[in-house]
Amino acid sequence: MRNVSIRRSITGIPVYIPAKAAGPSAEADAPPVRSIRLSANETTLGASPLAVEAVRRAAADLFLYPDPHQTSLREKLALKLGVGEDQLIFGNGSFELLSLSALAFLNEGDESVYPVPSFGWYRIATLAAGGIPVEVALDGDHRIDLAAVRSAVTDATRLVWLCNPNNPTGTYLNASELDGFLHGLPDGIAVVVDEAYFEYASPADFPDTVRLLDRYPNLIVLRTFSKAYGLAGLRVGYGIAGAETVRAINRIRPPLNVNRLAEAAAVASLDDEAHVRAVLDNNSEGKAFYVKSCRELGLSYIPSETNFIMVDLGRDSGPVYELLLRDGIQLRAGREFGMPTWLRVTIGRSEENRAVVDALRNALQPSAR
Ligand SMILES: Cc1ncc(COP(=O)(O)O)c(C=O)c1O
Repeated sequence: MRNVSIRRSITGIPVYIPAKAAGPSAEADAPPVRSIRLSANETTLGASPLAVEAVRRAAADLFLYPDPHQTSLREKLALKLGVGEDQLIFGNGSFELLSLSALAFLNEGDESVYPVPSFGWYRIATLAAGGIPVEVALDGDHRIDLAAVRSAVTDATRLVWLCNPNNPTGTYLNASELDGFLHGLPDGIAVVVDEAYFEYASPADFPDTVRLLDRYPNLIVLRTFSKAYGLAGLRVGYGIAGAETVRAINRIRPPLNVNRLAEAAAVASLDDEAHVRAVLDNNSEGKAFYVKSCRELGLSYIPSETNFIMVDLGRDSGPVYELLLRDGIQLRAGREFGMPTWLRVTIGRSEENRAVVDALRNALQPSAR
């Protein structure tokens, strides 16, 4: 048998750990009686009924390749965002667009700078492109420390990733902070602002990044239909950038990367503003419930502008995470983000949120230790 030779830079790449698959946990001794999945920041309100219907209709054409230019989605989204159709690029989720961005901007040995903890794919996308990851700690309030990010930029930096609001902390950069950072950056560095949770961010001073594109041609904004639009299973993300940048990334975008069902569902979702509103209202209510419950339980939390919230148990959260998992409640253990006393909880429907808080209350009783 002959071995293959793997590219050296790939063998050092850590395996990305996504949320466990939906369904009963393989780790539980006996199947739990319930299954509450609040580990991957999906919306548990589901997709828009219009999107489900669009998928049914599109199923008749499964034998046809998808539209390589995503024309329907492109036209609709360009109109909604007030940008040119040539300023949009679509991906198989924003995961794919993150990877393509690294390939587009990094030469072998170039540095990419990003805060940690943040979304774990920035590291892997950088390494896969042959780049060197440069990680910068968040500040004491779990916010992105832009001064520290700026200080980490060197002559070798070609890419900066900023997750806004940040996963897993839920904190955000405001408009003047982001503008100031972009303004102070030397030429020749791409800035990818990953706005996967954009729809959830409500502060008046949250950046209107699309409007910044005219002033900063090095800016790439990434958004997704996976979160507030409830289409995580279909995989549609999009990038908004200058037309020239889009053309560059397009050269390496695999053709037909957005499938027929995904495009049909995304187009239909854009017609269902009421559904997105319901998702956002449910999230605000759920977030308020967690804040109130954390106060009652005497637990610290990080104020969040997303559909998840980080809660500090004040001790190793691993055993509580495991206990809840056996009880059919899937959260995310903070150790995955280097925050071992924390749990990340996706905000779900009210009955799910109540179940989480009840389970936490029980798990934290002195007798449960
Ligand atoms: C910050 C961030 N960026 C990107 C993604 C990937 O999203 P998508 O489903 O669009 O690939 C996620 C998913 O959890 C995320 O949290």
